[in-house]
Amino acid sequence: MSIVSISTLGEHVGETVTLRGWLYNKRSSKKLVFLEVRDGTGIVQAIVARDDLGDERYNLADRMQQETSLTLTGVVKAHPKQQGVYELAATDLTVISAVAGEYPITPKEHGVEFLMDHRHLWFRSKRQSAILRVRHAIIKAVRDYFDSNGFTLVDAPIFTPNACEGTSTLFQTEYHGETAYLTQSGQLYGEAAAMALGKVYVFGPTFRAEKSKTRRHLAEFWMVEPEVAFMDLEGDMNLAESFLTYVVGRVLETRKEELKVLERDTAPLERVTGPFPRIRYEEAIQVLQDAWDARKAAGTLAKDPEGNDERRPEFGDDFGADEETVISSRFDRPVIVHRYPASLKAFYFKRDPDDARLALGMDVLAPEGYGEIIGGGQREDDLATLEAAIAHHGLPKSAFEWYLDLRRYGSVPHAGFGLGIERTVAWTCGLGHVRETIPFARMLNRLTP
Ligand code: 4AD
Ligand code: MG
Repeated sequence: MSIVSISTLGEHVGETVTLRGWLYNKRSSKKLVFLEVRDGTGIVQAIVARDDLGDERYNLADRMQQETSLTLTGVVKAHPKQQGVYELAATDLTVISAVAGEYPITPKEHGVEFLMDHRHLWFRSKRQSAILRVRHAIIKAVRDYFDSNGFTLVDAPIFTPNACEGTSTLFQTEYHGETAYLTQSGQLYGEAAAMALGKVYVFGPTFRAEKSKTRRHLAEFWMVEPEVAFMDLEGDMNLAESFLTYVVGRVLETRKEELKVLERDTAPLERVTGPFPRIRYEEAIQVLQDAWDARKAAGTLAKDPEGNDERRPEFGDDFGADEETVISSRFDRPVIVHRYPASLKAFYFKRDPDDARLALGMDVLAPEGYGEIIGGGQREDDLATLEAAIAHHGLPKSAFEWYLDLRRYGSVPHAGFGLGIERTVAWTCGLGHVRETIPFARMLNRLTP
C-alpha cells in the first residue's frame, strides 16, 4: 500500500489511498465523524461513517483528540462544491500515537504570550505554517537571485572580536579566556571576501542585544548581505531595487495559497516594481516637517510629559518606526532614503564628497508602515579616513587591524547592504509583529522554547 501526501490527492481521485498525519480538528454527528487531518503538505477532511467502518472504528474516530497521530485509508473524492478540494471517504484508520492529556492549543482564542510559550506546538497551525512557508520562499528567492547573478556565498563567523553596528547592542561572551561578541552583521567579512571574489553575499544569523520591545526587533535575526567590489551608492540602490523586486515577485508567484490563508491583500505587493522612488534624507526631513506643520495647524501635536509640544523634526534626527511610516506613506511602493547624516551612521560609511556632513548610505523603507527592511551603502575605502572614523567612534583599533588591511592592500570603492529576513516576512505576510516570522523567536524576555 503506497502512502500519499495530502497535497497530491488531486492525482488520486477515485482511488483508495493511505495517508499519515495528525488530527487537526473534528466534528461529529450520530453516524458520521468528520476528521480534519494535516500531514505537513495540506489538510484534508476525512469522513468516517459508522455504517461503513463499524462501531469500534467509528468510536475511535469520535473520541480521537486533537493532534493524535494516525494512519488513514480511504477513497479520494473531489469536493462537490469547491474546486481543487478533495475529501477522503474513510475505509480504515489506526492511531499511531494517542495524545497524553489535552493538547494545549485548542481552536479557541489564546493570548499571544501563551502561544509563544507553546511555539514548538503553535507552528502546527494553518496560519503559522503558512508564514514559515513564505519565509522559506523568501530565503530560496534570496539565494536564487544572488546565485544566478554571479555572486558567491561566503559564510561569516558568528564569534567576532569587534563590533560592526555600534557597541550598544553587543552580546558579549567568553571565548577561551578572551572576550568575544556574537556577530551583529557579517558585513566586514563580506567586504574582505568581495576583495577576493568580487561579488559576494553573506547569509546567516545575526545578534543584537536590543533593549527595547518593539514589533520589529529580535535579538537573533537572519540577514542577507551582498557586497560588491567597484560598486558605488548608485549601484547599491539599483541592486537593492532589482533584488527586492525579484524576491517579492517570487513570493507572489509561489506562495499564493499561503498568502490567501494569511488574508494578505496582495495588491500592495504587486506594486513592488522598479523604479523605486529615491529621496535624500533632507527631503525625508522635509516630509516630516510638513507632517508636523499639518499637525500643528490641526492642533494634534503630541505633548511631552512636561506638556510641551513635540519638537519639529530637524536635520540630524534619526528615524524610528513612526517617522518611517510617515515617510513611506507618501509612496505606493518601497522608497529608498539616501545620504543620511554621517553622525547617525556606523564608522564604515564613506562620506559624500559633495557634502561632508552626509554618509553615502541608504535605507529601503517598505510600504504599509513596515519601515526599514534594508540598510547599506558605500564603504569608506581610504585608509587614513577609516582609521580616523574608528578612533572617532571610540572603537579599539587593534580589533580592526585585519579590516584596515583591506584598505592597505588594493583598496577599491565598494558597497553593499543588509536585508532583514524577518522584517521582509512580516511585510510580505502582512503581520503585526516579527515574532511570528521566525520558527523560534529570541527577544528581550524570551529565550524559550
Ligand atoms: O541597518 P542594519 O543595522 O545594517 C547592517 O547591519 C549593515 N552592516 C548591513 C550591510 O550593509 N551589510 O541592519 C540591516 C537590516 C535592517 O534593515 C533590518 O531589516 C534588519 O537588518 N534588522 C533587524 N531585524 C530584526 N531585528 C533586529 N533587531 C534588526 N536589526 C536590523
Ligand atoms: Mg539600519
